[in-house]
Amino acid sequence: MQLVHTIDEVRAQVKAWKREGLSVGLVPTMGYLHDGHKSLIERAVKENDRVVVSDFVNPTQFGENEDLGSYPRDIKRDAALCDAAGVELLFNPSPEEMYYKDNCTFVDMNRLTDVLCGKTRPIHFSGVCSVVTKLFHIVTPDRAYFGQKDAQQLAVIRRMVRDLNFDIEIVGCPIVREADGLAMSSRNTYLNEEERKAALVLSQAVRLGEELIEAGEKNAAVIKEKMIAHIEAEPLAKIDYVEIVDAQSLEPVSEIRGEILAAMAVYIGKTRLIDNFIR
Ligand code: PAJ
Repeated sequence: MQLVHTIDEVRAQVKAWKREGLSVGLVPTMGYLHDGHKSLIERAVKENDRVVVSDFVNPTQFGENEDLGSYPRDIKRDAALCDAAGVELLFNPSPEEMYYKDNCTFVDMNRLTDVLCGKTRPIHFSGVCSVVTKLFHIVTPDRAYFGQKDAQQLAVIRRMVRDLNFDIEIVGCPIVREADGLAMSSRNTYLNEEERKAALVLSQAVRLGEELIEAGEKNAAVIKEKMIAHIEAEPLAKIDYVEIVDAQSLEPVSEIRGEILAAMAVYIGKTRLIDNFIR
């Protein structure tokens, strides 16, 4: 596996592969890789001749008071994981490599991004769309892999790819969880022992919501209230949002019909965690 830091190196390698007629898969990440990332990488390795993983903590998707400075980083460990998983190219650019000092171009949308996580993180999805667009132009993959863990991000990327005619297949991959249910996240490293236990209320609320729907409950407000009550019973948890929305439009639903997304963001102490399910 090659570890490269410049856009030119990525372009040269991908061009050579394309001349040979090889297909290319891309897995965009912010690094500090865990088994959730690994599941995306393994799927990409299965479905493409060559796989590129990007490892870049993207500053434009962090708000002023968010965790850009403290976001965990370990490129050596990430490189070992990628190498073992069959990745050919790991792209780890510096912020200066990715953004001109006077960069003034961003990709934004005026739907899907003002709800759920976008409400609390107003610039977040513009940063995500911009960096993913740049990565798509740099790598020109045939397929790109995203996790259902960030359900809104996946819906936003799908819409962006459709609206802007990117010739790239977006592959959504299921949430990978710890044995006790907690959705894997690089941010789980922020949790102390007590918080780690308290964090289980998210996956428990997910399971509760799923069970209610399986039992035939159709009233979204009832499901939401029960999920909220479960989370609020945990003193260390502070809800940012719990919402039930249409899985494509992300607009609120009152009745469980068609494909719905039940999504939540909850602070456990200072750490903001997300979880969701789609039915
Ligand atoms: P990051 O949080 O590193 O996640 C990279 C990819 O891994 C995302 O598509 C995310 O949904 C997926 N992922 C994370 N945890 C997962 C889990 N437990 N199960 C399944 N998939 C999981 O998402 C980002 O980075 C950034 O916003 C990025 C798209 C790279 C743009 O900067």
